[in-house]
Amino acid sequence: MANERTLSIIKPNAVAKDAIGAILGRFESAGLRIVAARMLHMSREQASAFYAIHQGKPFFDELVDFMISGPVMVQVLEGEDAVAKNREIMGATNPANAAPGTIRADFADSFTENAAHGSDSAENAATEIAFFFPEGVCPRTR
Ligand code: PPS
Repeated sequence: MANERTLSIIKPNAVAKDAIGAILGRFESAGLRIVAARMLHMSREQASAFYAIHQGKPFFDELVDFMISGPVMVQVLEGEDAVAKNREIMGATNPANAAPGTIRADFADSFTENAAHGSDSAENAATEIAFFFPEGVCPRTR
């Protein structure tokens, strides 16, 4: 198993329902350590750039509109198989298919408002982490 980092976003609908603490607690309980975190309200330009790979897809405008509808909490999670573990904790992208007890099953409101984002590969994680934390991520010493 590899020690990895992944990018996680608590989306505006989950922030609005004051679920930040509950969601971060799930990561920590699962052995994913928070090694960087910031709260921000993305501009349309930022959100469009973050989701640039999906430009032209039918859901793109709705996704960007949602992601700029309120603040998001962005964190870097570190641990064994962090990419896969985070995606397991989040549950399926479409909350209708998310297993009970996952973040999306518990906090999503719709396919668009699906509560959380997680990188889908270690390679994309590195790109996404650099997007939100260009200054780099401090190693945890304790
Ligand atoms: S794709 O088309 O397979 O690349 O899409 P996917 O990787 O499943 O999802 C990419 C992000 O787009 C969101 N998404 C949607 N939002 C609204 N409506 C529909 N139909 C839809 N399909 C995908 C999905 O939540 C992903 O967001 P992030 O923030 O990356 O999790």
